[in-house]
Amino acid sequence: EGNKTPYEAIGREKLHELIDLFYSKVSEHPDLKPIFPADMSETARKQKQFMGQYLGGPPLYTAEHGHPMLRARHMPFEITPGRAEAWLLCMREAMDEIGLTGEIRDFFYQRLVLTAQHMVNTPDNDA
Ligand code: HEM
Repeated sequence: EGNKTPYEAIGREKLHELIDLFYSKVSEHPDLKPIFPADMSETARKQKQFMGQYLGGPPLYTAEHGHPMLRARHMPFEITPGRAEAWLLCMREAMDEIGLTGEIRDFFYQRLVLTAQHMVNTPDNDA
C-alpha cells in the first residue's frame, strides 16, 4: 500500500470515471459551460492524460502535448475565483458520486485546490 503512487491507489479506471463524470457536471454548470467547447470528449481525453501523470502515472500528457504549462494554456479563458470554486465544486461532487474517499481523496483534492487557485487570471465581476 505505502509504496503505491496516488495513480495506482486510485486506479486508471476510477480516474477515468471521475473525469468523465466531472466534465458532465462542468457542461451543466452555468458559470463553466460558456468557456468550454460543446463537445468535451477531447478535453476529457487530455485531462485523463494530464491527471494520470499529475498523480504519478505514465507521462502521457507530456508525451503528446509537451510541457503542461497549465497556467499559460488557461490564459485564453477568463478564470475568475468564482469559476475556480465552480470547477472545484464539480470535482467534489464527482468524487462523492464515484465514492472516492479517505486519504487519497483528501490528498488529490487539496492538490487540485492549489492548482485551481494558480489558474485564476481574472477578478470576479463586481457584485
Ligand atoms: C483545459 C477551464 C482548472 C487542467 C481547460 C479548458 C478550459 C479550462 C476552458 C479548455 C478546454 C478545451 O478547449 O478543450 C478551467 C477552469 C478551471 C480549470 C475554469 C478552474 C480553476 C484546471 C485544473 C487543472 C486543469 C485545476 C489541472 C489539475 C486542464 C488541462 C486542460 C485544460 C490538462 C487541457 C489543456 C490542453 O489543451 O492541452 N481548462 N480549468 N484545469 N485544463 Fe482546465
